[in-house]
Amino acid sequence: MNRVFVPGDALAVSVGADEVAAALRALCPGVEIVRNGSRGMAWLEPLIEVETDGGRIGYGPVDLTDLPELLSSGMMAGVAHKLRVGRPEEVPFLARQTRITFARCGVIDPISFDAYRAAGGLVGLQRALAMLPGELIAELSDSGLRGRGGAGFPTGIKWRTVQQAPADQKYIVCNADEGDSGTFADRMVMEGDPFLLIEGMVIAGITVGATRGYVYLRSEYPHAISMMNRAVVVAENEGLLGPAVLGSGHSFSIEIRVGAGAYVCGEETSLLDSLEGKRGQVRAKPPLPAIEGLFGKPTVVNNVLSLAAVPDIFAKGAAAYKALGVGRSRGTMPVQLAGNIARGGLFEVPFGITLGELVMDVGGGTATGRPVRAVQVGGPLGAYFPPALFDTPFDYEAFAARDGLIGHGGVVVFDDTVDMARMARFAMEFCAVESCGKCTPCRIGSTRGVEVLDRIIAGDASQMPLLEDLCETMKFGSLCALGGFTPYPVMSAVRHFREDFVRPLSMAAE
Ligand SMILES: Cc1cc2nc3c(=O)[nH]c(=O)nc-3n(C[C@H](O)[C@H](O)[C@H](O)COP(=O)(O)O)c2cc1C
Ligand code: SF4
Repeated sequence: MNRVFVPGDALAVSVGADEVAAALRALCPGVEIVRNGSRGMAWLEPLIEVETDGGRIGYGPVDLTDLPELLSSGMMAGVAHKLRVGRPEEVPFLARQTRITFARCGVIDPISFDAYRAAGGLVGLQRALAMLPGELIAELSDSGLRGRGGAGFPTGIKWRTVQQAPADQKYIVCNADEGDSGTFADRMVMEGDPFLLIEGMVIAGITVGATRGYVYLRSEYPHAISMMNRAVVVAENEGLLGPAVLGSGHSFSIEIRVGAGAYVCGEETSLLDSLEGKRGQVRAKPPLPAIEGLFGKPTVVNNVLSLAAVPDIFAKGAAAYKALGVGRSRGTMPVQLAGNIARGGLFEVPFGITLGELVMDVGGGTATGRPVRAVQVGGPLGAYFPPALFDTPFDYEAFAARDGLIGHGGVVVFDDTVDMARMARFAMEFCAVESCGKCTPCRIGSTRGVEVLDRIIAGDASQMPLLEDLCETMKFGSLCALGGFTPYPVMSAVRHFREDFVRPLSMAAE
């Protein structure tokens, strides 16, 4: 009997995949059902895939009520049906991608170690185990990998600093707080290919001389927490984690820690305080976490996607990774298309694709069918881009040149009904709510910003210079990027959509 794949990750489960899997089990008792991760095509979930002689054939989105008819019309043989999408890898959204980090996601059973190994897992670690410390750093640095958590800091430099710091204990901390609006790539990795992240953390540990790793995982991700905990146990049983990693002389263990829900706990120093059991508050730098991090010891703090990119770099070599991308942005970026978009989901692509291609060609424009008016890239601290800037290539420097940022790769689309003055107010309010309170420009400035924007929204355009002045103070006076980058969404909204801020009083009252 052929196998059937029904995704079991949060994305698919949120639209009924558990119910579909249970019904399938009841209707076809002999069939083996694999709960894979999602392929990242959100609009097709739940996407059932049936293993046939001609490969896997997808059907989606499948509703419970569709199942009896799907089965009677021959779904198990992969026959034609209005929900049939064909071979998933041939769906244009997937076919256009270069999947490296997400190569196995949605394909294998995430918790099967054999499936992981059979699909190319552990090759990178095995190669790393045969390399000298200097070679390990050189390989990573040569790949051009930059941190995917937001700042785009070169991963090789960070690892070298920790490697060279003398200490009796070092740590690898994986930042899985994923607080940016419209982002879900970390979650998809952890739910769809958890051994990839574990392998990346082990390679990091071997490279810098760390024996303990922590994954700081947001409490809002119960499926990921459960999957990572299960994967750690399997990895221990299989010898990937423990006193002798894959039989080598290296020891490495991982603990999953659950974050308590503050956006600022995604900031690395605040995260470290939270991990130490304190209230998550930003630390002044220096010292850098690479020198004095967790419990005062040298610590690598990296995002899930940064660590998940590492095994492939070691498996195929730095040059293969570096060959992808543009300028100083090398490799691929798992872009997350969200908000008011027709085809939302995970799109992994080499850097260099334009914002317009992503939103219009890949994403198909808005879900409402109305014109796109604004796109926020890089989470709640990212700038708003109008369609006039859709020629901007997805590349750290190109975005910075237009006063924007790529951040964690979140792209949130808005149609022409959006009120950009209200979005600017939302940015200030978000900062006020999430501020850790350590520095005045952020703690007080964001609250004053909400008040000023309220007056502007009420029709008092004379407050505009005050808003601009306040943004300057926050940008240059804040201790971390929460206060320092909130001016980006606010000022980009002012710059590109000024008409929403200087309305006649009669319109403002509407
Ligand atoms: C307010 C704030 C929130 C952040 N949230 C996250 C987050 O959720 N996940 C993340 O990986 N990095 C986040 N960062 C960035 C981290 O401070 C840090 O740069 C990152 O974890 C380093 O990993 P990378 O070099 O792999 O990107 C945040 C930064 C700030 C200022
Ligand atoms: S900018 Fe805001 S979040 Fe960052 S340290 Fe200052 S008060 Fe805390």
